[in-house]
Amino acid sequence: MQLLQPCRWLCRVSLVLLCGSLCAATDAPHQRLSLDAGWKFHLGDEWPEALHLEKSGAGSGPAAQGFIDSYWRTVDVPHDWAIELPFDPTADANHGFKALGQKFPNNSIAWYRRTFDLAATDSDKRIGLSFDGVFRDATVWVNGWLVRHHESGYSPFREDITDLVNFGGANTISVRVDATKFEGWFYEGAGIYRHVWLDKSAPVTIAPDGVFVYSEFKNNLPEGPATVHLRTIVLNQQKKANSAEVSWRIVAPEGRTIETGEARQVSAIAADSKTECVGEVRIDSPVLWSPENPTLYKLVTTVSVGGKVIDRQETPFGLRTVGFDPATGFLLNGKRYEIHGTCNHQDHAGVGAAIPDALQEFRVRKLKEFGCNALRTSHNPPTPELLDACDRLGLLVMDESRLMGSDSDNLRKWEELIRRDRNHASVFLWSIANEEFSVQDTPQAAAIARTMQDLVKRLDPTRPVTYAAPEGNVFQGINAVIEVRGWNYHYGPEMDKYHAEHPNQPNLGTEQASVVGTRGIYANDTSRGYVSAHDIVWSGWTTTAESWWSYFSDRPWLSGGFVWTGFDYRGEPTPYGWPCINSHFGILDTCGFPKDAFYYYQSWWTSQPVLHLAPHWNWLGREGQEILVEAFSNCAQVELFLNGASLGRQAMKRNSKLSWNVKYTPGTLSAKGFDTNGKVIAETKVETTGLAAKILLTPDRTAINADGQDVAIFTVTALDAQGRVVPVAQDNVSFTIEGAGKIIGVGNGDPSCHEADTFVSSLPVRSVACSPWRWKAANVPHERSALPEYANDFDDAGWSLLKRGDDPMTIKTANASAIYRTHVTLTEEDLKGAGVQLRFAGCDEEGWYFVNNQFAGESHDWSAKPVIDPKRYLHVGDNVIAVGVFNAYGLGGLNPDVQMDIVGKPTLVQWSRSLFNGLAQIIVQSKREAGEIKLTASANGLGSATFVLPTKPCPQRPFVP
Ligand code: GAL
Repeated sequence: MQLLQPCRWLCRVSLVLLCGSLCAATDAPHQRLSLDAGWKFHLGDEWPEALHLEKSGAGSGPAAQGFIDSYWRTVDVPHDWAIELPFDPTADANHGFKALGQKFPNNSIAWYRRTFDLAATDSDKRIGLSFDGVFRDATVWVNGWLVRHHESGYSPFREDITDLVNFGGANTISVRVDATKFEGWFYEGAGIYRHVWLDKSAPVTIAPDGVFVYSEFKNNLPEGPATVHLRTIVLNQQKKANSAEVSWRIVAPEGRTIETGEARQVSAIAADSKTECVGEVRIDSPVLWSPENPTLYKLVTTVSVGGKVIDRQETPFGLRTVGFDPATGFLLNGKRYEIHGTCNHQDHAGVGAAIPDALQEFRVRKLKEFGCNALRTSHNPPTPELLDACDRLGLLVMDESRLMGSDSDNLRKWEELIRRDRNHASVFLWSIANEEFSVQDTPQAAAIARTMQDLVKRLDPTRPVTYAAPEGNVFQGINAVIEVRGWNYHYGPEMDKYHAEHPNQPNLGTEQASVVGTRGIYANDTSRGYVSAHDIVWSGWTTTAESWWSYFSDRPWLSGGFVWTGFDYRGEPTPYGWPCINSHFGILDTCGFPKDAFYYYQSWWTSQPVLHLAPHWNWLGREGQEILVEAFSNCAQVELFLNGASLGRQAMKRNSKLSWNVKYTPGTLSAKGFDTNGKVIAETKVETTGLAAKILLTPDRTAINADGQDVAIFTVTALDAQGRVVPVAQDNVSFTIEGAGKIIGVGNGDPSCHEADTFVSSLPVRSVACSPWRWKAANVPHERSALPEYANDFDDAGWSLLKRGDDPMTIKTANASAIYRTHVTLTEEDLKGAGVQLRFAGCDEEGWYFVNNQFAGESHDWSAKPVIDPKRYLHVGDNVIAVGVFNAYGLGGLNPDVQMDIVGKPTLVQWSRSLFNGLAQIIVQSKREAGEIKLTASANGLGSATFVLPTKPCPQRPFVP
């Protein structure tokens, strides 16, 4: 047996094994605060000049700190604005026909702004700003200073912003997101779709992703004690050398500190540098992690300087070994372990790519229900909280890079990904890339693969590396150098031949099946874009569930594999185009409702007795016609009955399913499953139901946390008068919500549904031109003090006229000033809405703005387009806007193209969604105050149903107010 074994770390620093407890790791000053709530959002980019490269700290428009964003929408991140856009038949099919991308410039760039205060007492801290993922091409300013341009939509980024923040004052983060270009060939979302964090740390601190813990067992077989390797990078951001003590403490799954699990090391760290502290401890009776038993230990790392705790971090980790054997396949904890995997993209119904943490958990639980034990994060680095869920609930993860490359940027991203994810028990395999058709067989790709693989070996001695190769018996380029040969689709005799010719290379089905099917549909329908849910091959490269799995399951050296896909996803509507907007590949639809393939995999990937019949039994108008009935089961035999009469008993072949042709008569189609002794071990039935008569609301959990983050996923079901699910109901259901929660998305799994996934309240804006302006040369003081010329009753009739569209350069000499005035009449209605803003087209060079003789703002940059919020100074009737302008150089003046935006009241939204084949989904998020969420669903003729879901008080994730 050839196991891939962890190599030993070469350098070790002496360390002290401690008995007893270390200094209590109490309130360390490092705070990791959520910056998710309260962003201002604007779709569109009216500020092409916001990025100033000629001067520092000169971001203008929304990039400037003083920009007025009061009437922008408030959103919480994770946020995906693509989900809010309409579908458009001319948009990109692979991205789900959302009106996004090059053809839709007005929808493809957006701005986010977040303002927050920092206390003066924070001035001894370092402030770090981290984005877990922004799709894509993000430009970030803090207080008008450009801090980062980050293109990748999948890799996280972080900046130390200490130098430019205001301690004891307000700070503004501005993010321009440009989702015009795509990175993949599937729905990718748009916006700040993962979490944002603000770190306040001491100048000596644990480096970002600076903790690494991994276990090692003799011969990579988890018999006997585990050696646990501990590594912590400590950062000294001070101008003087320091001595830091790092101590480690391992907490067992049941909460006890492990006696042999404590160590510490004292290290000197030079000024402005970092050092890695290394420790090693032993766990004598390790409890192993596996998908079936996802037991987690916790490493508590504490850093102290001068006896004072300055940082403390908890890192959950698992004890387990992984390895591949060319003959017996994947080995988990030293034993052969068949990979029952699914590839998945990262979007869900209703919310797109902006998946709340609890929804990640929901998705992992759904995958596990049919026996899935592994997930491939195709084709990009995942959201960290997905990995947390996989650690906790037990799902192996093949963690994938978006692209391959050995250029410095790609290698930096690859390294950051490995450093970020290598503590996760769930991650068992790194994937350098997927299907690089045009280069994969070249010597260059081989060299790059080797470089990426070598980097893994340096950073993570425990996990193998693969590449998802879409080719058959080809042993050149990447395949010739990669540790684990990945197989996308090609299988059969050429795979056996490959294995015979390369008996020392382990193999894995990295992507298989790609069967298409629509939930609850049993005939292809090209006009509506539906495909039969029977396991039928459509496209050339695809294989039925039964054929790929039977082949793999018979060959232990193949390690099992990953189905394309677990969940349906937006985009790639193969085999159709418009009106179809999402894929049909899923075992689950976009909501996580099971298709019949779910039961095929459940039969052969779990050991519980499974018996499922398809299709439903509502075939009005098809009486007397033959219907193909399938039984998905792992029972030894299955007997089918129609209205109590036996239609025959059949023996089940391993990895297969059974079928009957049944003449349709309404009633009950039922089945019994028998074990090898002829004992009934499972029963099921489908019944012809009546028409939909009522609605049922069922949440996935009985209560959720009142933390503003947790979500409940409600299933909306149509029932007939007898309480049976009506599998063909398509009723439109509307929703209202009261109390301690809000709706964030709705879906139904229909691949051709163009109804809205989310309903956004908008602020109606009426723009009024402020004109004409009168002006005269005058002495304007460089301050906010009022002049008689600003007053409402000042008579400006004799001043020169300047209308919109006139040459704005009215001041012809340097060092000269002038005053400009205009009148705006407002009604009571105008002032009843959300507010008013005044948008100026430019003021060369400095301006002091007065509304009804009150100072309302100032500007000092000729290229700025100042926006002023004058609402509190306005009144019904005549209002006077006056601007004092000072021109320092050349020509100057006020551009008279001034607009007043009168912002109305937020529009009310009515949430709704049609059922698709009896089901819909509604995702509800808690607010921060505990209470009750009252969700009501109603539909014509079905009445209404109300569900009251409690939200529980809970510890809040620390956040920036
Ligand atoms: C594969 C590809 C996937 C998806 C799939 C559809 O070749 O890796 O991303 O496009 O085909 O069958």
